[in-house]
Amino acid sequence: MIKLDISKAPVSAEKVAAYEGKVKEAQKALENGTCPGNDFLGWLHLPSSITAEFMTELQNCAQTLRDNCDTVVVAGIGGSYLGARAVIEALSNSFQWLINNGENPTILFAGNNIGEDYLYELTEYLKDKKFGVINISKSGTTTETALAFRLLKKQCEQQRGKDMAKKVIVAITDAKKGAARSTADKEGYTSFIIPDNVGGRFSVLTPVGLLPIAVAGLDIAKLVKGAADMELATALNVPYSENISAQYAVARYAQYTEGKKIEILANYQPKLHFIAEWWKQLYGESEGKDNKGIYPASVDLTTDLHSMGQWIQEGERSIFETVISVENPENKVLFPFDEENLDGLNFLAGKRVDEVNKMAELGTQLAHVDGGVPCIRISIDRLDAYHLGQLIYFFELACGLYCQLLGVNAFNQPGVEAYKKNMFALLGKPGYEKETEAIKARLAR
Ligand code: PA5
Repeated sequence: MIKLDISKAPVSAEKVAAYEGKVKEAQKALENGTCPGNDFLGWLHLPSSITAEFMTELQNCAQTLRDNCDTVVVAGIGGSYLGARAVIEALSNSFQWLINNGENPTILFAGNNIGEDYLYELTEYLKDKKFGVINISKSGTTTETALAFRLLKKQCEQQRGKDMAKKVIVAITDAKKGAARSTADKEGYTSFIIPDNVGGRFSVLTPVGLLPIAVAGLDIAKLVKGAADMELATALNVPYSENISAQYAVARYAQYTEGKKIEILANYQPKLHFIAEWWKQLYGESEGKDNKGIYPASVDLTTDLHSMGQWIQEGERSIFETVISVENPENKVLFPFDEENLDGLNFLAGKRVDEVNKMAELGTQLAHVDGGVPCIRISIDRLDAYHLGQLIYFFELACGLYCQLLGVNAFNQPGVEAYKKNMFALLGKPGYEKETEAIKARLAR
């Protein structure tokens, strides 16, 4: 199982005493459905409730895409995007997942921005590709995704013909409402439902994450098994001293109460970059409410020690750090001996590259602790689907618990609407006439 070490971000005995009972109450509230946002607790026992039949259905759909496409574009944003990308990047060869190597299709992502160059270059790139599309949107109306999907649907139909398009376009959306649902029903696409009670950022273990991950040729059964094992290991009956999600939630909250307003998630494996992006959304969108909440930031190390390292070491002391450390990389590279030793690195000859990485990690942790940065450490034995499944559930549960300690509803995101309202008013969307007038007057002042 993954391990949590909070000894370098100690929580005082008084705080543990004060928060242990509260975090237990928070977990009971999740179990009993009595916490704020209790319509969205479907993720809590999701891993243990996924059936073999459902996995087969997903695998069959993934196989159809793999058999008929050299490239699959996953259209989605936020929770309908980040989980799949995080797992696919973490578990794939750093240089091959973006190319079709004859075994797995190339996986590309769209609908997560409105960059015109991005969409132009994507559609150009796809011109000679046998591509398919997974269109993911819970609401079915998200502008970024809908815009990309409209372009991709037309191109797919033109290039591949209506019949093949029907086969290689899959929708993952609400059971009944939204434009993505009506299009899927009208066109006869294969579709999967995002359960009503699972919010976007908690949906990676639904078809939202599982289908793209399966299309990438990765082991979704092991991912779900890892999550289910973590569900057991952090269950309500597990004592606080063994429940790592409860401990992480308390450690974060204790840091927050001591003025640490920013948490930096650090990794020492470039493949984990998008795990941090997924984590930032999970925590940022869940806790940033009522003018409260830790700002979730991230760094890729050692890369960012040469950009953000100075700030972390000596900037404002409002931060703490959480490191994700992978104990055993999959591959072995030994540092070679060199007769001339022009670079002076023969002291490393015969050592694994990972040994150098681990010493960089330890050296950094010592320096950061000395510099007044509390450090939490999450260690993962190896980067595989099973351990990633554990990590996902660990973070989700900790998020649900921590938000209750903070006193916010983890499962809504009212603040996200503000930009949309302005954007629709500025673009003249029907129904926004009053807002358009108000915004025009405001801009003219
Ligand atoms: O976590 C969330 O709820 C959001 O980030 C959504 O996932 C995101 O806004 C995309 O929404 P939708 O799936 O409705 O297109």
